[in-house]
Amino acid sequence: MNVAVFASGTGSNFQAFMETKGLHHHIVLLVCDNRHAPVLPKALFHNVPTFVFEPTNYTTKEAYEREIVKQLMAFDVEWIFLAGYMRLIGPTILWVYEGRIVNIHPSLLPQFKGRGAIKQALDAHVNVTGVTIHYVDEGIDTGPIIAQERVYIRPDDTFASLKRRIQMVEHKLYPRVVYELLNDSFVKGDFL
Ligand code: GRF
Repeated sequence: MNVAVFASGTGSNFQAFMETKGLHHHIVLLVCDNRHAPVLPKALFHNVPTFVFEPTNYTTKEAYEREIVKQLMAFDVEWIFLAGYMRLIGPTILWVYEGRIVNIHPSLLPQFKGRGAIKQALDAHVNVTGVTIHYVDEGIDTGPIIAQERVYIRPDDTFASLKRRIQMVEHKLYPRVVYELLNDSFVKGDFL
């Protein structure tokens, strides 16, 4: 199974994939929309080919997504895992890959969709938030949920401390779920 990871930023989840036995050899391509993203040197380090594009160099979203699909085809990609990819997946990619695109979001969806989910949880003064892994559809963080894990919010939590604990959960949960999806051993309900 060939996998592409889409990321725009730090790439700590990408790094977690690369450090997971039985998973890293599936990753054949990193797609990135930001040529300054810290995830890029990580891909270089792990010898993962990258496709870096500048959305402003294209007239439409359809145009750059066509280019992405071309790259995915060239690498025989079967699954796409979004890991901090800061763009909505449009119909051009969905048409080919729907049901095989998965995202990770730092909240217990459907709570706190969209950007700034960790801050949204802190601002709402809830005492529990978490991590959700879900299939991607045309909406913002609306696709069917695959797995969720809770993270409790402490009274003295800051944005940084909460983010750290959320990411610790992400780095364990995401590789596990990806591994199980690729190996067809995913048991629904296991992670919910
Ligand atoms: C993660 O917290 C993920 O939940 C969200 O974006 C962040 C990406 O972090 N979608 P990183 O680039 O993998 O460090």
